[in-house]
Amino acid sequence: MMENRENFKNRFTAVMAMAGSAIGLGNIWRFPYMVGQNGGAAFIVVYLLSAVFLSLPIFLSEAIIGRSTQKSTFGAMEQLAPSSAWKWLGLLTVASPLIILSYYSVVGGWSIEYLLKSLFFRLDAYPSLSELSSSSVTPLFFHTAFLLTCALVVKGGVSKGIEKFSKITTPLLFVLILVVAAYSVTLPGASEGVRYLLKPDFSKLTPEAIMSAMGQSFFSLSLGVGTMLTYASYVSKEENLLRTSLGTSIFDLVFAILAGFAIMPAVFAAGMEPGAGPGLIFDTLPFIFGKMGESIPRLTELIAMLFFLTVLVSALTSAISMMETGVAYLIEEKGFNRDKAMVVIFAGCWTLGLLCSLSFGSLSGVKLMGMTIFGFCDSLASNILMPLGGMLFTIFVGWKMSRSQVYEEFTNSGTRSFNKAVFKIVYFLIRYVAPAVILLIFISNLVY
Ligand code: PFF
Repeated sequence: MMENRENFKNRFTAVMAMAGSAIGLGNIWRFPYMVGQNGGAAFIVVYLLSAVFLSLPIFLSEAIIGRSTQKSTFGAMEQLAPSSAWKWLGLLTVASPLIILSYYSVVGGWSIEYLLKSLFFRLDAYPSLSELSSSSVTPLFFHTAFLLTCALVVKGGVSKGIEKFSKITTPLLFVLILVVAAYSVTLPGASEGVRYLLKPDFSKLTPEAIMSAMGQSFFSLSLGVGTMLTYASYVSKEENLLRTSLGTSIFDLVFAILAGFAIMPAVFAAGMEPGAGPGLIFDTLPFIFGKMGESIPRLTELIAMLFFLTVLVSALTSAISMMETGVAYLIEEKGFNRDKAMVVIFAGCWTLGLLCSLSFGSLSGVKLMGMTIFGFCDSLASNILMPLGGMLFTIFVGWKMSRSQVYEEFTNSGTRSFNKAVFKIVYFLIRYVAPAVILLIFISNLVY
């Protein structure tokens, strides 16, 4: 028996769940190190432009498809374009979030390990990221713990699991990151880091940096992989879609900027390198915490703990949304009950995650297109699956669905007024701008 479909209760809980999906390692781990590697504020400017002109139209396209059908990815495509090739987009977006979840959960596992270390006040004993990740046992244990925690929440269902969890954790994330950012910007010598985040240096903006900024904006908003589509399918028919989508995007953006302010000023205050790459929060920050802990031990320990708690909680709410996308598919299309669906998804992601985790150690010699298994999954997801899915969703809404169908969804079947000029702009972005620009990105990626 298929379980009754649940909805998010109101706009607040819908936005908290969607923002919970959006805010994650992408904001707190990837965004700061990408800013550090790609010219500081200049990267942020491109990121903002991409958020408005590319990500928002994709977000709205997914929201329109999900909310209008009240189905998850595959079922939604089947309903709107029965027995057509579009079902492949449905299937692709069942698989993509699960690929992401597999390696995401490995990083989520690292964050548990760092949190535990900071809880036990062993600031001097942080291993380097390469040391920690190359071990064959401990990261696997934490990868399992991370996935199990997600599974427990997803098992609770939409309202008793996801909604209940994210309406507490998403606001909590903002409180936590504000505390850490306040600490960071008041450190002696932090102003250099603040300036770095605010003053763009466009000379550092290479074509690669522009690509990364765009990719990062898709990743950060969980776009192109059907996760937002699935969450939007739980948004009630009375809700204003534009506001829900805008609200989520703004929360995500503000959080990424706050994460920048939590990290960069501390990095500069300690005289460290902002372009350290993926090790920025796992190597550079613990080093800084350790160094500062020598003068003000208790406060620094507390901040370190709050920081890694933020990393962990943000990763969990995102991972939950990826798991739910696969689970919803198995429930709605394959007739599984929630528990069975969860076990299947758990097993698949755990196994692929195991390979990703071992690719830092015993499987480091296994290369796919010159990358480790972890690197391959990440690159496949961020450089191909997300932009491809995003482009196809905008093409579907802009060209396959009729203009009146799209307008209907924005006006909640005519029960809500919707500014015609705003609709025109949004529709133009969905129909022309987003697909064309993403196509260009693809082509230039192939050429370079
Ligand atoms: N948006 C998440 C982050 O910034 O960490 C990552 C993510 C979540 C990607 C959900 C894809 C997804 F389906």
